[in-house]
Amino acid sequence: MNPDFPARRARLAAALALTDEILLVGAGHPVPKPEISDQQFPFSTHQEYFYLTGLNDAPGAVVAFDPREGNKRGWVSFVADVSEAERVWEGRQQPPGQSLATLDAWLTARRHRPVVMLGVPLRGVPYDERRTSRVREAFTHARRPKDEAELELMRRAAVATAAGYALAAKCIRPGVTERQIQIELETGFYREGATATGYGTIVATGPNAAVLHFSPTARAVQAGEFVLIDAGAEIDRYVIDVTRTYVAGRPSAFQRDLHQVVLGGQERAIARCVAGAEWKEIHLQCAVDMIAGLVAMGVMRGHPEALVEQEAHMLLFPHGIGHMVGLGVRDGSGLLPGRARDPRPCLASLRMDLPLASGYVVTIEPGLYFIPAILNDPRRRARYREAVNWPLVDQNLQLGGVRIEDNVLVTDGAPEVLTQAIPKTL
Ligand code: GLY
Ligand code: MN
Ligand code: MN
Repeated sequence: MNPDFPARRARLAAALALTDEILLVGAGHPVPKPEISDQQFPFSTHQEYFYLTGLNDAPGAVVAFDPREGNKRGWVSFVADVSEAERVWEGRQQPPGQSLATLDAWLTARRHRPVVMLGVPLRGVPYDERRTSRVREAFTHARRPKDEAELELMRRAAVATAAGYALAAKCIRPGVTERQIQIELETGFYREGATATGYGTIVATGPNAAVLHFSPTARAVQAGEFVLIDAGAEIDRYVIDVTRTYVAGRPSAFQRDLHQVVLGGQERAIARCVAGAEWKEIHLQCAVDMIAGLVAMGVMRGHPEALVEQEAHMLLFPHGIGHMVGLGVRDGSGLLPGRARDPRPCLASLRMDLPLASGYVVTIEPGLYFIPAILNDPRRRARYREAVNWPLVDQNLQLGGVRIEDNVLVTDGAPEVLTQAIPKTL
């Protein structure tokens, strides 16, 4: 199913409610590598531009909108002329649209109007920053619910992701390296139709599992160590973001309990992903659930709610419960329009603050980690002297951590887990 871009643009125009302003949405430009060479970092158009056009290989392109010409007819897509060198060296084709050379005349005809600038700002075109931030907020909010075309891509990306996890899980044993696991995983993604990985694959063994965004290395996993994999396939710009934590060989009782605490917290959080639920409440409730599990394990002491109010959960759960995902691994998070940032320190790590609505796709990714950079901090040790069983923490400072992450579609009924085909048991 292809998205109906004219209908999508008209819907967005209505949601933005512009009157006198003109809207410019820049695709952006490739970034050359720092050394002097003909090499560039891989290029993708800005997600705001892509959402309106579906064009990925369109460096320098601009989509423009004049509300005085109507929500349907007011849009013009300007694309750069593809050069002979680009055709010869890169095989580029001319994308559809009006020549970028005509943008100046379009702007000159509207020269005294305020400019709102989304995507990557155009060089040399001044714009109204205050209006731009209001419009960006409205734009982001309007594209939060995924449409059927977007969901179809995400479901296909979930199938490819599951294929990769199946291969990776099969190869995990003592002695295998993070890189070997990455190779199996990504092979599965590409065989099942991935066009890219959604972000830099994380494969982290042993203590590396406590590094939140770890890049795989040649380290071989030892018997009894955690293996944390956080990775997802991308299909035509739509991304899946999954984490599973395994043990190479036999897990210890402590590892099983820790995994079970995260899994229990994650499953209860998923069940709470219903329309109208406040994201920060899902986060805080999951923190309370996991702290209760840590108290039961003897890692922490006290009342779970009180410990979360004191931000003690941030010692082992230092990140937010998740984020929106879809058109990129960070898609549409942020605040509900008009909402101010909640100043509570226990919410500082949250990527969004809004009520969920039907059509949103969010990650639910709680984790518990033994992170030396946090747990060896003398000020935290003093502040939480009574709340934490420090000798037990010290015994486990090299253990790494556990994260479990799924992608959840909010519906008018029960939440749908797009990534449920990937087993979670240890
Ligand atoms: N893969 C990074 C994250 O889970 O947000
Ligand atoms: Mn992830
Ligand atoms: Mn994530």
